[in-house]
Amino acid sequence: MNPSWELLTQAVESLRLLESVDSTNTWAHENLLPAWGVVLTLNQSNGRGRWGREWELEPGRGVALSIGVPLRGEGSDNGLQHTWLPLVAGASLVRAIKLIGVAEVALKWPNDVLVGSRKLAGILTEIDQRGQAIVGVGINVRPWDSELSRARISLDELVEVTSTTLDGILSSVILELRDAILLTPRETKTFVSSHLMTIGRGVEVLNQSGESWTGTAIGLDDFGSLLVRNDEGVVIPQRATEIHHLVQ
Ligand code: BTN
Repeated sequence: MNPSWELLTQAVESLRLLESVDSTNTWAHENLLPAWGVVLTLNQSNGRGRWGREWELEPGRGVALSIGVPLRGEGSDNGLQHTWLPLVAGASLVRAIKLIGVAEVALKWPNDVLVGSRKLAGILTEIDQRGQAIVGVGINVRPWDSELSRARISLDELVEVTSTTLDGILSSVILELRDAILLTPRETKTFVSSHLMTIGRGVEVLNQSGESWTGTAIGLDDFGSLLVRNDEGVVIPQRATEIHHLVQ
């Protein structure tokens, strides 16, 4: 991979390319990544995922980046609820990937980017010490050997990856995200819902203490929580939980 970053450079306020780094999100925290600044690497050694998991990346086989996203306060004129940001970031990434011709890509609540049941990209959203959001994005670009490879899919298996493919996706995701955080609450819900494959599906809900139950995902509430109807017909909003799609 010898990508060019011409469009991305134009879309952001600053672009820091790192030969290697432990985690771009950690780097963004430590170096106070500016609003709409991006730090990016093809060689991330200790990527962090949601729920304390590791985000695995074989050198050169994927891209890892973090984006500084201003929320309320300095440099920001939007009113986006913090709870919506992971979903809005996921929907923006889905749109950007669709633009390069991957029609089947969709969002699994809250922000896994899947093709079918296989994961193409993951997002980890954090808030730094100034209250600015860091949106960390990892995209699988080339397949690599691992026990995870059945659960994972890479861009290379979906489109021809050239030196400008990543530049196209990443510049689009920044532009999408810049627009999306300015949407009204109603527009935000419509935008996210239109890319979400989870609504209408049978799901298994897993909470932090390891308990699980099954139900049907029926929609989103005003905070972006997933509304799941259990077998007794009770609708329970899910916020800090993990869900699995049930095979249908
Ligand atoms: C997940 O699916 O659990 C989220 C994975 C997020 C990985 C990205 S790679 C760039 C950024 N830096 C990190 O350490 N993590 C995120």
